[in-house]
Amino acid sequence: MFTREDMSSLVNIAFKWNQRGDILMKSVLATGNMTLMDSGKRCLRVVILALGLTLASTNVLSETIELSEETQACLDCHDKESKQKKLDNGEQLSLHVSAKAFTASMHKETDCEDCHSDIDEKTHGKVAIDITSRRDYALGMQDSCLTCHKKKVTEYGDSVHAAMIKEGNQKAPLCSDCHQPHTVLSSKIVEPIAATPCARCHEDIFKAYAQDVHGIARVAKGSSAPICADCHQTHNVKAASMGTGVKDSCISCHKDSVKQHQDWLPNTERHFSAISCPACHAPNAQRRVNLRLYDSATKLQVSEKSGVPQFDKRTNAADANNQGLNERALWSLLKEFSQSGDDSKTVLQGRLEVSSGVEAHQLSDKSKAIKDCDTCHKKGAEPFQSVTLTIAGPDGRPLRHGVQNDVLNSLMSIDSVRGFYVIGSTRIKLLDVLLVLVVLGALTVPIAHMSVKRLFKNMREKLEAERATTQAAADENNAPESHPSHRSQP
Ligand code: HEC
Ligand code: HEC
Ligand code: HEC
Ligand code: HEC
Ligand code: HEC
Ligand code: HEC
Ligand code: HEC
Ligand code: HEC
Ligand code: HEC
Repeated sequence: MFTREDMSSLVNIAFKWNQRGDILMKSVLATGNMTLMDSGKRCLRVVILALGLTLASTNVLSETIELSEETQACLDCHDKESKQKKLDNGEQLSLHVSAKAFTASMHKETDCEDCHSDIDEKTHGKVAIDITSRRDYALGMQDSCLTCHKKKVTEYGDSVHAAMIKEGNQKAPLCSDCHQPHTVLSSKIVEPIAATPCARCHEDIFKAYAQDVHGIARVAKGSSAPICADCHQTHNVKAASMGTGVKDSCISCHKDSVKQHQDWLPNTERHFSAISCPACHAPNAQRRVNLRLYDSATKLQVSEKSGVPQFDKRTNAADANNQGLNERALWSLLKEFSQSGDDSKTVLQGRLEVSSGVEAHQLSDKSKAIKDCDTCHKKGAEPFQSVTLTIAGPDGRPLRHGVQNDVLNSLMSIDSVRGFYVIGSTRIKLLDVLLVLVVLGALTVPIAHMSVKRLFKNMREKLEAERATTQAAADENNAPESHPSHRSQP
């Protein structure tokens, strides 16, 4: 049997390692919007039980582990709960390392000095060392994982979290924020309570997730529905709205999803590339159009260089009253962000997405998903009322500035918002007419697909011609100097 002391260190292990798990999620589900802390306390009993059973069944504690003499010597001083040190910023650093928890951890065969190689035996413990803060100390220890976990260190080094740390962010996770090095258990042992360290920092998103179609499926039905890392990766986490990583992960599980949508959604691939999955699958979310500054030469989103903040400076200058960028301001920004050189051109790429991170995690079951073409393809459609301009910040996360929504209606913008004219909601009447055809066509399946394709080919050509004419007219009406179409002209 476990003694009380065992139990309390077990609970410590559980909470230190991750502080969250499916059990917590269950309690979030059960308790609605109670804070995670509260729910954590309430389900302590369950945690004790589950962990006790898990550990008992794997016999972790009954193994006898020989610690090296050196490690034992360190523990002689450090296995004392009262041991603390006051840091420069006033925080208390607990110097307690539990021999019991350490012996039960995955690092039981790792010596203290493998990680703490800078300890000077002669002066250690006698001469006080200056430590600014707990964070600072953990940051200094970060490299100690490299010797033995090169692969994870490399993956993590590529992540948005690591990039934030390089930019001086104090809140992004270090290895030791997710893995308490003295008590770390195998991810396999912990698996049954599927602890996710992500929840501690992304609490609001976790709560939303816990009540969406995947969270419910995973907790209530115990299915293999995804948790954070399945969609975002564990170590190599990238900014969510950049690239296609998250979408690719959806499709890697929902292998038939393109086919399933094709049955009713024409041009599925284009819809998928212009609309984020939650924009249709989180039906109560607010949607917005994200105009991404995109370099058509490098095929990458324009990004800001570290230490040279341009975006906020330029957008604020172009939008002094903070009412959103108007069309003229947008054009001049396009020009400013264009690299010098002829083959590089900055364009805008439209993308329909939900307007907050929380909403991206409110996916509901398929019967509630947006199917009505009118939601988007009608004049004044809701998703087109909110518009934002983004570039990639130095850490990879998007930087944003508001745009006036009538910019979308402007014919002149079309050249740049290529691939994002939305039938009905823009002023392109020809396309409106076409929508009717498409909708009718969609009812008489397979022929419809053929004719729709052909129609679109003709349409595009017509549109190009129409645009060229409008363009010429607009140019004569002294369009702003910065119009991109001038760039390639002599
Ligand atoms: C796998 C690497 C690793 C091993 C093995 C290790 N430590 Fe640590 N230790 C760290 C890291 C990383 C930190 C700082 C981060 C943290 O704890 O949040 C740390 C912090 C500490 C601290 C400061 C207080 C604290 O918890 O932050 C003490 C004291 C300490 N370790 C003692 C020991 C002793 C004693 C041993 C051997 C029984 C040991 N460590 C084994 C990596 C390790
Ligand atoms: C004689 C008792 C004693 C022994 C043995 C001892 N420590 Fe400490 N340790 C201390 C004291 C006291 C402090 C606080 C020092 C201070 O105030 O800066 C400390 C602080 C630490 C810290 C916090 C950071 C720092 O350097 O102040 C770490 C990490 C640490 N010890 C690791 C170890 C490791 C690893 C060993 C074994 C190689 C070890 N200790 C052996 C007494 C001891
Ligand atoms: C001296 C080598 C060494 C160092 C340094 C080291 N580890 Fe480990 N680590 C190990 C060994 C050995 C295991 C046992 C797991 C195994 O067999 O792969 C392990 C296991 C782990 C596991 C559990 C893996 C699993 O199976 O779930 C995590 C997490 C981990 N280490 C994180 C860290 C972190 C974080 C650091 C830096 C603070 C660190 N390690 C530093 C040797 C090391
Ligand atoms: C944001 C939280 C987070 C950070 C930061 C993090 N890890 Fe992990 N790590 C996890 C989780 C969760 C798992 C277990 C599930 C998985 O592998 O996806 C894990 C698994 C591991 C494993 C075991 C993997 C295996 O397949 O055996 C090792 C080793 C490891 N991490 C080392 C590190 C090191 C070293 C760092 C720092 C460079 C680090 N981790 C940073 C969350 C994190
Ligand atoms: C089913 C896949 C999936 C799961 C599971 C998931 N996410 Fe997401 N996450 C997304 C999508 C999709 C987006 C929005 C991406 C976009 O804009 O295209 C997103 C966006 C985010 C963002 C960026 C929010 C912002 O402000 O832009 C964060 C942070 C995030 N997720 C964290 C988490 C955490 C933490 C968890 C676990 C509690 C989690 N995610 C679980 C798919 C997922
Ligand atoms: C120690 C705190 C901490 C932990 C643990 C943590 N994160 Fe983060 N993460 C942050 C902070 C701070 C940011 C930047 C602010 C923000 O976007 O919320 C961030 C940003 C992100 C972003 C980019 C947001 C964007 O704009 O696209 C994603 C995605 C993300 N985290 C996912 C995860 C996932 C998945 C996990 C678990 C494997 C995790 N985080 C664990 C602190 C953490
Ligand atoms: C234009 C809106 C829209 C977009 C964009 C969209 N979906 Fe759907 N999706 C739906 C609707 C509506 C249904 C329900 C169709 C039905 O039941 O006839 C659905 C059904 C599904 C289903 C259930 C399929 C089945 O038949 O069981 C999955 C899984 C799915 N979508 C995943 C995705 C993924 C992944 C993405 C992003 C790559 C995505 N969806 C993008 C509207 C959309
Ligand atoms: C790890 C695999 C995995 C990933 C990644 C994943 N899903 Fe799922 N998804 C599932 C499973 C399993 C279910 C079934 C849940 C259940 O049993 O009801 C599901 C259910 C759904 C449903 C409800 C389908 C229905 O029949 O009502 C939708 C919609 C959906 N997922 C969309 C997405 C989107 C969008 C993404 C990416 C942002 C995504 N999924 C990522 C595994 C995954
Ligand atoms: C959530 C919003 C949304 C919904 C719902 C939606 N669409 Fe679209 N649709 C778009 C967007 C955005 C584009 C522009 C895509 C692009 O050009 O990259 C588009 C483009 C199109 C195109 C033109 C494709 C091309 O090649 O230019 C057709 C045709 C179309 N949609 C038909 C439909 C039909 C029919 C439905 C209903 C079954 C529908 N859409 C539902 C947003 C939506």
